[in-house]
Amino acid sequence: MSTHKEIKKITTNTIQKMKDQGEKVAMITAYDFSFAGIFDKAGVDIILVGDSASNVMAGHETTLPITLDQMIYHASSVVRGVSRSLVLVDLPFGSYQGNSKEALFSTVRIMKETGAHGIKLEGGEEILESVKRILSSGIPVMGHLGLTPQSIYKFGTYSVRAKEEAEAVKLKRDALLLQQAGCFALLLEKIPAQLAKEVSESLSIPTIGIGAGKYCDGQVLVMHDLLGINTEFKPRFLRQYLNLHEQITEAVKRYASDVKTMQFPNDTEQY
Ligand code: KIV
Repeated sequence: MSTHKEIKKITTNTIQKMKDQGEKVAMITAYDFSFAGIFDKAGVDIILVGDSASNVMAGHETTLPITLDQMIYHASSVVRGVSRSLVLVDLPFGSYQGNSKEALFSTVRIMKETGAHGIKLEGGEEILESVKRILSSGIPVMGHLGLTPQSIYKFGTYSVRAKEEAEAVKLKRDALLLQQAGCFALLLEKIPAQLAKEVSESLSIPTIGIGAGKYCDGQVLVMHDLLGINTEFKPRFLRQYLNLHEQITEAVKRYASDVKTMQFPNDTEQY
């Protein structure tokens, strides 16, 4: 008899069952091995290797500069730290908008070179052909509607989307098209809570919200925001669970001071 305790891996079927049974989905971003391992063991359902790596890891102002190779580097590090959670990877800007063949090529690279379990990409009807082509290759896809940061230069601001009727109508139609195409879930970013409620109730697949209110079937936050590593970003939707910026600053100040005053290392901390 094996003493090895088998880990129950989260799959897209698990995520669907959670919606069917009214259990909320907890999703968080990660970009490296160490944090991904902590989040996996803490019990999150989905880990997203977001293209927000462009902001929080590389210091760019937008998500546009990050490349497919850089996403693959982050994603393969995350996958090595995870044994239970479902790992999804964002298709970066410029790696799928050209045509569906390019979209599939980028996705296949991610799947082969990282070991991730699926991808996310931004947009509705405009990218539907690519979504279908990726899905027809057996790769799970999460859609992303509402505020889609790769289109920041079209929007001009990061403010709430789909407040106007026309945009809300298009979002509802896109949501349905993505579900019909076969997406296993849909991320809704920064839209009114009532609209997210309507979309969540009308779809059979789960919705994951960020700034989209409490009626979504799950929630996602960027790890740097949730942990308070990044303290300048304070949108209304964010709940900051820690102030790591302050705690890390304090710890590193004490370390530097201990080195300079020769309190570190002491006799028991040497060979
Ligand atoms: O890249 C990202 O972090 C995202 C957020 C919406 C979670 O897509």
